[in-house]
Formats: sequence, C-alpha cells, structure tokens
Amino acid sequence: MLTGIALRLFTVLPKHFSTSSAMALVDVGGMRRDYPGERAAFDVSDLASRDPTRQFEAWFDSAKQDPKVEEANAMCLSTASAGGAPSSRMVLMKEFGPAGFVFFTNYGSRKGRELEQNPRAALLFYWESSKRQVRIEGKVEKV
Ligand SMILES: Cc1cc2nc3c(=O)[nH]c(=O)nc-3n(C[C@H](O)[C@H](O)[C@H](O)COP(=O)(O)O)c2cc1C
Repeated sequence: MLTGIALRLFTVLPKHFSTSSAMALVDVGGMRRDYPGERAAFDVSDLASRDPTRQFEAWFDSAKQDPKVEEANAMCLSTASAGGAPSSRMVLMKEFGPAGFVFFTNYGSRKGRELEQNPRAALLFYWESSKRQVRIEGKVEKV
C-alpha cells in the first residue's frame, strides 16, 4: 500500500494515429503482477558495487547467464529531435565500460540524424525475468 504518494494517470497522444478511430481505450490495468521475492524494496546493501559500471557489469553478467534472457545486451535507446521530441527503439550494446556504452547504427537513420542535431541520449536495459532495469543518460559521441 502506497501512502502519501499521489499517483496520476498520463496519456501519450500518438502523433501518427488517426483520432477519428471509433476504438475505445482498452483497459489493461488489471495485468499488473506483484514482483517476485520476499522484499519489494531494493536496498543499498543489495548493491554488488557502489561503482555504477561495476554494478551494471554484475547485473549484465547475471542476465547473460539467465536462460530466460535471449539478448541481455538489447537496450532501448531514446534520442530527441532538436526541438526535444523524443523517440525510442531497441539497439544492441557492443561494448561497455566507464568510458561509455557503445552501439552501432547507420548515421542516416532517424536516430543517427537526431543524434547529429541533439547529441544526448538515454539508454534503458530491462531484464524481465529478474525485473531489473538500468538507465543510463548522457552525451553521445561518434567512435
Ligand atoms: C532486439 C533488437 C536489436 C536491434 N539492434 C539494432 C542495432 O544494434 N542497431 C540498429 O541500428 N538497429 C537495431 N535494431 C533496429 C532498431 O530498433 C530500429 O528499428 C532501426 O535501427 C531504425 O531505427 P530509427 O528509425 O529510429 O533510426 C534492433 C531491433 C531490435 C528489436
């Protein structure tokens, strides 16, 4: 039970979808499941390391060894246009370390063009079987 936290609903109005469609909102709120494990909270004592890269490495290694995870290196990459409109898609991480998280893509793609105009991005890893997510935000450089 959450107390003292005001939960509010938001809606994303899809830019390219027809607003004339008669389709009503499909309510999938009941799909929420309780997370596994005895404790719902993640504590500092649960960290493998206080170094974020080492902590990432520990979780990445366990995702790699998890047979339920097909592509532990798949991550969601969010970019934004010069005007700040965000877009996201999946890419594969090729290298990682304190110096950065490397992915390959075509410079002419939408993400490539957006990064040319606005060299900032966010990454999100989510490993469903462990319910762990890691987010990484920062400047982007060509390598
Ligand atoms: C699991 C997964 C991994 C992907 N990995 C890459 C990748 O490493 N590089 C890439 O350019 N596109 C990758 N794609 C395709 C992108 O998600 C995307 O469809 C494509 O790059 C065009 O994106 P954009 O139009 O936003 O630039 C991947 C898709 C999936 C589902």
